[in-house]
Amino acid sequence: MKVVITGGGGFLGSQLAKRLLERGALTGPSGSPEPIDSIVLFDAQFAPSVEAMATQKGQAIDLTLLTADMGDRDAVFAAIDRDDLAVFHLASMVSGECEQRFDDAIRANLDGGRHLLEALRQREGLPRIVFASSVATYGGPDMPDRVSDLTKRTPQTTYGMTKAIIELMISDYSRKGFLEGRSARLPTIIIRPGKPNAAASSWASGMFREPLNGEPCYLPVHRDQCHPVLGYRDVIESFIALHEADPSVLEPDRAYVLPSHRITVAEGLTVMEQVAAEFGIHPGLVIDDPSPVIQGIVDTWPTATDGSRALKIGVPQPKPLAEIVRDYLRDFVVT
Ligand SMILES: NC(=O)c1ccc[n+]([C@@H]2O[C@H](COP(=O)([O-])OP(=O)(O)OC[C@H]3O[C@@H](n4cnc5c(N)ncnc54)[C@H](O)[C@@H]3O)[C@@H](O)[C@H]2O)c1
Repeated sequence: MKVVITGGGGFLGSQLAKRLLERGALTGPSGSPEPIDSIVLFDAQFAPSVEAMATQKGQAIDLTLLTADMGDRDAVFAAIDRDDLAVFHLASMVSGECEQRFDDAIRANLDGGRHLLEALRQREGLPRIVFASSVATYGGPDMPDRVSDLTKRTPQTTYGMTKAIIELMISDYSRKGFLEGRSARLPTIIIRPGKPNAAASSWASGMFREPLNGEPCYLPVHRDQCHPVLGYRDVIESFIALHEADPSVLEPDRAYVLPSHRITVAEGLTVMEQVAAEFGIHPGLVIDDPSPVIQGIVDTWPTATDGSRALKIGVPQPKPLAEIVRDYLRDFVVT
């Protein structure tokens, strides 16, 4: 089996590639684990840490980095070149970028998604695709605090709009028998390593990452702000579980909101300090630096997710928050 991960150069895409290299197999249309012989990471850019993964010697699976743009139809079709394919579609501009660059967002997120679905439609054997959607598909004044798969999709951003449309297309392409699709609607995933990004939720990782690196963290939201978060390892296992779910357990609506932890900023900081103490780390200062812009955006977000429908089809229960912080330290900080 060949696996294509779009956005494979990004945070979750590269972690998914690592996990699939460890596993070596994935269940697809045959219903049994199939050995993976090739993984292609399709992305507009690659960090040196991802390039290093591809040059590691002695890997049983061929790992290829393909630098290309999702908006380039020919490049997308060229990557979808086998029938025994598994696709994880993670390439996306982030929310802040989409608000600033509407035309690019349409090209990358919407046209790119359409190219991919059309390319898969040309293949035999009903290839499976897992799409990384977002709780940004919800929004607006009538949205409940806790969102579920029955909550109306009312995105309030260009990013959320593109995600909602690709979710709907995946359900329809599956209904038509063009492919076997599944969408995971992600809450905020923590703890993203590296630098803050342009997402309005960047602080949700930063409030762990910066203090654990011994650096100050400037907090743009208030400390009793509630937020739905999920660990990166849990989301990787959720992508795999969604890929492996037998079509017989799926419903016509192929979009599943993932379960998450509803935590306040203060609760998150307490756990961060406890785990820092376990590892002998003196955390950097957390400084309140309210941003009316970020707070205003965050006020429009749901504070919890009801992932019961995803759990029923095999998506794992989220690990405790302390375990997420320990994973981050083991994977990215303490080497
Ligand atoms: N991390 C989160 O908290 C979160 C929350 C909700 C949804 N998601 C979704 O999960 C997916 C992965 O998220 P992530 O945190 O790894 O994001 P990321 O920004 O680290 O990775 C996305 C990758 O997509 C690539 N990309 C963007 N436009 C492209 C284009 N036109 N052609 C090719 N590649 C392009 C980027 O270069 C980047 O490497 C995304 O689709 C994101 O919208 C993430």
